[in-house]
Amino acid sequence: MNTIPATSVDDRAPKPLRVLLVYYSRFGAIQAMAEHIQEGIARVPGTAVDLLVVGDDPLTALRAGESVANAEANERRLALLDRVASADALVIGSPAYFGSMASPLKRFFEDLAVASSARLDRSRPWHHYLFSDKPGAAFVSSATPHGGNEQALHSLLTMMMHLGMLVVTPGQRGPILEQEGAPYGATAITGPRGQRGLTAEEVDEARYLGQRIAEVGTWLRAGRGLEIERLYAAEAARAQGFDPSA
Ligand SMILES: Cc1cc2nc3c(=O)[nH]c(=O)nc-3n(C[C@H](O)[C@H](O)[C@H](O)COP(=O)(O)O)c2cc1C
Repeated sequence: MNTIPATSVDDRAPKPLRVLLVYYSRFGAIQAMAEHIQEGIARVPGTAVDLLVVGDDPLTALRAGESVANAEANERRLALLDRVASADALVIGSPAYFGSMASPLKRFFEDLAVASSARLDRSRPWHHYLFSDKPGAAFVSSATPHGGNEQALHSLLTMMMHLGMLVVTPGQRGPILEQEGAPYGATAITGPRGQRGLTAEEVDEARYLGQRIAEVGTWLRAGRGLEIERLYAAEAARAQGFDPSA
């Protein structure tokens, strides 16, 4: 049985770590946070950010010139699924809506899951294996401090865990009794009418989350590279008649 993953050592080496930043923002707070998360990612050398802004329309909605018959809508969904599933790491952001992620974002991932192709296993329409072992982090904004922002973070993290992703959080940053940020991801409180701009602490939290996902993603990729090299070396030794486990 061939135990070597499809990726070759040469494929991996010079490419930047691609961090996909996917978010929905109706009034701009999440968009502002995303800009600072980008700055944090950029602190880590060898990384690149791919921005994916989720809109209000479902991916299943047909656009001008598309029809169910010509399957262009499915092609569009497949291209998006490929873009998300081929990222090295994901950061997902949403406003807190009733203590959960906003429905356009949830629908985005559900719509990706129903994209169909001969390449994909139709017995698993959620395609969760495409996301396995991918590091992921989350950020949210809410009107009020107790308006459900931690629950909304958890709704994003739960989806990641369900997909077999490796959840990356900032943890409790010190000094722990003075730090207002959530340990589960980056947050911002935007006020009852969403008019309050980001505080210096919220900007710092957002930058830190970007830096952390980029660092963890870099470590993971380096570790996987070593594992692939080990498998190649063992395979080469076996081909020459050596037993690498002896
Ligand atoms: C439908 C809807 C539901 C909301 N639910 C909550 C909520 O449960 N708790 C809260 O604190 N804010 C709630 N908000 C406010 C948004 O979470 C908040 O304004 C957020 O910062 C908006 O992000 P955005 O500017 O990126 O769109 C809600 C807003 C809308 C439109």
